[in-house]
Amino acid sequence: MVFTHSLPLVPVPVSATAGEGRMPVTAATRVHGAAAVATLLADAVERRSSIRIATAAQRTAEGEPASGDLVLRIDPDMAAAEGYTLTVGDTAEVVGADEAGLFYGVQTLLQLLREDEDGTWAILRADIADAPRFARRGVMLDVARHFFGVADVKAFIDGVSALKLNHLHLHLSDDQGWRIHIDSWPLLTERSSGTSAGGDPGGFYTKDDYREIVAYAASRHMIVIPEIDLPGHTHAIGVAYPDLVEAPVLNDSLIAESERLGQPLPVAGENYLGWGVGHSSVRIHDERTYRFVRDVVRELAELTPGPYIHIGGDESLGTPKADFDLFAARATAIVVEAGKVPIAWHEMGSAEDIAEGTVGQYWGSTTPAGAHAEEAARFTARGGALIMSPSNVAYLDMKYAEDSPLGLTWAAFIDVRAAYDWEPTGILEVPDAAILGIEAPLWSETARTFDDVEQLVFPRAAALAEVAWSPQQSPARTWESFRERLGALAPLWKAEGISFHPAPEIPWSDR
Ligand code: ACM
Repeated sequence: MVFTHSLPLVPVPVSATAGEGRMPVTAATRVHGAAAVATLLADAVERRSSIRIATAAQRTAEGEPASGDLVLRIDPDMAAAEGYTLTVGDTAEVVGADEAGLFYGVQTLLQLLREDEDGTWAILRADIADAPRFARRGVMLDVARHFFGVADVKAFIDGVSALKLNHLHLHLSDDQGWRIHIDSWPLLTERSSGTSAGGDPGGFYTKDDYREIVAYAASRHMIVIPEIDLPGHTHAIGVAYPDLVEAPVLNDSLIAESERLGQPLPVAGENYLGWGVGHSSVRIHDERTYRFVRDVVRELAELTPGPYIHIGGDESLGTPKADFDLFAARATAIVVEAGKVPIAWHEMGSAEDIAEGTVGQYWGSTTPAGAHAEEAARFTARGGALIMSPSNVAYLDMKYAEDSPLGLTWAAFIDVRAAYDWEPTGILEVPDAAILGIEAPLWSETARTFDDVEQLVFPRAAALAEVAWSPQQSPARTWESFRERLGALAPLWKAEGISFHPAPEIPWSDR
């Protein structure tokens, strides 16, 4: 394997060799290839350089690529899914193994586009072959604690898909709000979507909004995973339909924590404006609860082309253990009945009878404590696999450092290096093959605006993208190499309008 550390690429490719010099990009440059991805490339080049390159939809006899042109094509004989090659010489050619691979090759090409000292633009010459380490490279956006509209979600998709992340998990319900319209239970959005944590404004997605997000994500090769959090984190359900939930459980730690933060306690039937957890539960022994779950899952499944529905399962402290187990079995079976693969937070691994093939999402520490690792490992005994979201390295809502204005602290301070320096395999006692990949969740208790979201997500999402995409053994998979390459993304992020946190440990470049 050949590798040149000097190429400013994140995540680092499987192999990359820098060539001599640069290939100029000018108003005479043309891009050849299928219209959608060619236009996406031309638009990004223009946002960056103000140069509008022409798109020549298909190669014709007269339209053969000239020196300086960009060529995009797919070669179905290439082996690795989502893989690509990129060769920049007198022309620049991206060859994708599939549509996603072509899209990722274009992202790499855009990272090689640089401005010269004299203000001209060029693509660094290079020879690259690349494919992902993990098929699952995810990110989660919590739209329940604070709501983010369709335009924000699209901007989020643009930013993270450019880092080659391919799964978008939307946390659509929690104690603070219900964010997707369900025809068969219309009061959910009518009564339980108007507020966010802290009394900030709320909102919800109509079904057309959600379809628009799914289609936009697909155009950037991201699969949407909808989550309805059950059986806890369900106070908002009770605001709409009081007979579906139990009375709030006010334990000592909730009372103490609410007092410390100056937040209200949950009151049955009223929108909850604090961010305490573990006080709510749906009624486990009432058949109406399962009618509700079945209707919601069916309507979500109809809207969701991706294979998964996330059913929650975390921090159900207000649900007795035997009831939790019963609910876990029934809820995962309902997802299977709807034709989807259930995903659940790792606590559901403690229930004996979850549906075969249920995927677990581990959110404990990289040094597991208590029952967390055991609960997570049990998904594999039921034919399932695991997504790794260790909260002390992969939680995008943790503060970077003590003086960070945004974020929580219960799992860790997570600076860029902490988000970078970890390994998804070997944390749990499961075979490496049981690890599907990683997901970086952004919980939104303290993220009140989309600018706040971007400050928390960027640059850490880039570190997590490299953990998920790049080979573990690459010589460039080191903190010293990464921080230089990451710094080189600054002009690209600025051109895209991404409000990233200028972490002091990164040498951010101007050009
Ligand atoms: C979680 O952080 N409660 C999954």
